[in-house]
Amino acid sequence: MRPSTNPAGPGRPQRLADTYRELFRAEPLLVRSPGRVNLIGEHTDYNEGFVLPAAVDKAIYFAVGPRPGSKVALHAADLEQSHEFDLAGLAPSDKRWPNYLIGVVDQLRKGGHPIGGFACVYGGDIPIGSGMSSSAAIEAGLAFSLNRIFGLGLDPLALVKLAQKAENEFVGVRCGIMDMFINIFGRPKSVLKLDCRSLDYQYFPFERADLRIVLCDTQVKRELASSEYNVRRGQCEAGVKLLSKYDPALRSLRDVSRELLEAHRAEFDPVIFRRCDYVVRENRRVEDACADLKSGDFAAFGRRMNGSHDGLRDDYEVSCRELDVLVDAAQAVPGVLGARMMGAGFGGCTINLVEEKAVGTLEESAARAFRAAFGQEPKFYISSLKSGTEVLSP
Ligand code: GLA
Repeated sequence: MRPSTNPAGPGRPQRLADTYRELFRAEPLLVRSPGRVNLIGEHTDYNEGFVLPAAVDKAIYFAVGPRPGSKVALHAADLEQSHEFDLAGLAPSDKRWPNYLIGVVDQLRKGGHPIGGFACVYGGDIPIGSGMSSSAAIEAGLAFSLNRIFGLGLDPLALVKLAQKAENEFVGVRCGIMDMFINIFGRPKSVLKLDCRSLDYQYFPFERADLRIVLCDTQVKRELASSEYNVRRGQCEAGVKLLSKYDPALRSLRDVSRELLEAHRAEFDPVIFRRCDYVVRENRRVEDACADLKSGDFAAFGRRMNGSHDGLRDDYEVSCRELDVLVDAAQAVPGVLGARMMGAGFGGCTINLVEEKAVGTLEESAARAFRAAFGQEPKFYISSLKSGTEVLSP
């Protein structure tokens, strides 16, 4: 069986620090910026609803330090590529990877925060396109690091918002706030329930010795993910517009009840109706899932994850065959409490809540089904829940 462990090992941040020392002849600040999982609450964040993510062991690491002058030197260790630019002339790069970092610098400059030249070596083990938010880890991790090295005094929530704006404006994906929020606010062994309107949050311990969070990675990444993402946002907005005729106080799908939606069903384009119906139900599922956690009922929690997948596949239509095959195979394994696609969709990972003794069977069945359907191997990662972005040294 394939190993389910983290292949990077603890040596990676030290290797990045060594590369920094070799390239820039100085001692860096070393920062760890985690990926995330989301237990339930998908496509609800930009509808001002609820999400339940957690920061995980897979991470991007930064070795960063100031440099005299106004030049910025970036080095992507995993790609073995470098990029340099001057703070005076920020422009998107054709190489694409620098844009996640330049976007952060752009936001700091626009906010009038005094940063100078700097050098940055980064790399990590969050699989790109896996739906574990490597982009948020890069953006929020750099914002956190620059805040430190230039003593900008930005509070954690300001870093979250700045990183989100960098993605919205420079990368061009209208992502919600979930990924950056959990990146900064994650806590070990806990999931975080976030109210994406008020930004109130609450931690729930999420640990039981006999349960594991297993991710199955389709390794499919489709460009559709970002174009369809923006389409879904537009469809949600269309639903809000229609319903706000009846309730002018209504601002987002967060404010919509199933009763209101049903009462006006006939006025909806059927596709828009299904999109809105999914979001309204998913918000409810997050609340119910948190009640399950309070009462320690992980079996009920898992069933809500299954319900979430049904809605994402049939009504929100952001799943794909690869994800569905993995979810179907997982849900058929005794000891798998819940399985669903995770993140924006159209590829990436499924998330599975699994009894430890069933992990091997899950991996075997999911791999068998995936091989039969696509002639390829999925990957598996067992996630442990870790803290949000933090300084490793000095
Ligand atoms: C992506 C976005 C998040 C969120 C999820 C779907 O990860 O970055 O803001 O919308 O998709 O839940």
